[in-house]
Amino acid sequence: MAGLHRDPLAVMSGLHRRHGDLVHFRIGPQHVFCVLRADLIREVLVKHQKSFKKGPGFEAARIVLGNGLLTSEGDFHLRQRRMLQPAFHRRRVAAYADIMVEEAVRVGDAWDDGDVRDVAEDMSGLALRVVSRALFGAELDDDARQISRAVAEVGEFFDYLTVALLPVLLRTPLPRVRRFRRGIDDLESATERVIAARRADANGDGDGDGDLLAILLAARDVEGDGTGMTDEQVRDEALTLITAGHETTANGLTWTWHMLAQHPEVEERFHAELAEVLGGRSPGVDDAPALEYTEAVLLESMRLYPPAWGIERRAVCDQEIGGYVVPAGAAVLMPTYIANRDERVYPEPLRFDPERFRGDAAAERPDWAYPLFGAGTRKCIGVGFAMLEAVLVLAELGQRFRVRPAPGHEVVPQARVSLRPRDGLWMRPEARAA
Ligand code: HEM
Repeated sequence: MAGLHRDPLAVMSGLHRRHGDLVHFRIGPQHVFCVLRADLIREVLVKHQKSFKKGPGFEAARIVLGNGLLTSEGDFHLRQRRMLQPAFHRRRVAAYADIMVEEAVRVGDAWDDGDVRDVAEDMSGLALRVVSRALFGAELDDDARQISRAVAEVGEFFDYLTVALLPVLLRTPLPRVRRFRRGIDDLESATERVIAARRADANGDGDGDGDLLAILLAARDVEGDGTGMTDEQVRDEALTLITAGHETTANGLTWTWHMLAQHPEVEERFHAELAEVLGGRSPGVDDAPALEYTEAVLLESMRLYPPAWGIERRAVCDQEIGGYVVPAGAAVLMPTYIANRDERVYPEPLRFDPERFRGDAAAERPDWAYPLFGAGTRKCIGVGFAMLEAVLVLAELGQRFRVRPAPGHEVVPQARVSLRPRDGLWMRPEARAA
């Protein structure tokens, strides 16, 4: 347990080396299975998805996220997914491109040539503002700002300890726990105030602003009973989207800057693509398809450092996976970090090579071989949002700066809720010649 908490990636890599693609162990009476190969992960997430529900971490996440899309189950989840899906339609997501670029410009304006900065923190602030503005409207009012701040604080608390210990810890009167509880109360009340204000607006349906919150308030389950969501449900979905949508995208960007700084030849081609496609102007949504090398660099960085580094489930019935029976109640851990470094799928897996995500190499590899965004009915709803945001941010900042590692700073991956550099990513942005 202690090893798994301290360095789950090292423990699971060791298990993989010693015991193969499917590993079983017990923590007290709890059966745990580590599924370490992409096609077996697909069996859990897609082929036998009905035999599994969300795992122990999500049970704890419910304390903050209530019954939102990430944590809900069964028919209720399907209903919510149907109602949220239109909000993530490509055309809708495209409408947020300006916010994404504006926030990248804001970060670029704050970077001074030669300054040493924690780029991980910059990306985290950027992604939080993007998803908050997409949700609450073009500009953030005090309540929306309070919500984003509280989400970041509550997330810190989650990252600080293992989520498995959360239910026990919450019964203690520790000051940190009290702050966490206060944070959740603030979060809920501020979100409720925003929703109430929207409901009370001119036409009463909260629509008209085109932001995600307006879409949630107006959504009706037309394929089901035709009703919409309660205010409490809208609140849970709003908090879920901010939480699921910012740390992951921020870490994807952070690792990409790290990899670009380590691989000057890749950085040069990235810059060449930016020059060719944009020629110095800021990117827009229509440029995204042409920025295909930029996208490949992002995908290859997230292959080696997947932001959602591990997906988990709990078996609801006995289920055979890879020739073994996973008994009902067992926890199933699927570290995509390890599956993404499988040499049978990615030859020389530790080599950083964006070409893996271009041309024939990408076309011939099956989808399941890259479980970065999950799979099946629980696949990430925000893939299009995240990819557009990350590509536009890389393009805007990449045209203005080249980021160099800060001397003396060691980058140590740390797997908590998401995979991030333990002590931040300290870098020196150098302004590029116009
Ligand atoms: C690089 C960025 C991202 C990565 C790597 C990522 C990864 C994932 C993964 C692996 C899952 C599946 C979890 C599971 O099966 O247990 C997931 C689900 C989800 N993600 Fe993302 N995500 C990213 C960005 C986003 C963004 C930007 C949003 C929203 C704005 C978002 C919203 C969600 C939601 C709501 C779910 C739950 C979907 C459901 O169960 O129906 N994600 N994400």
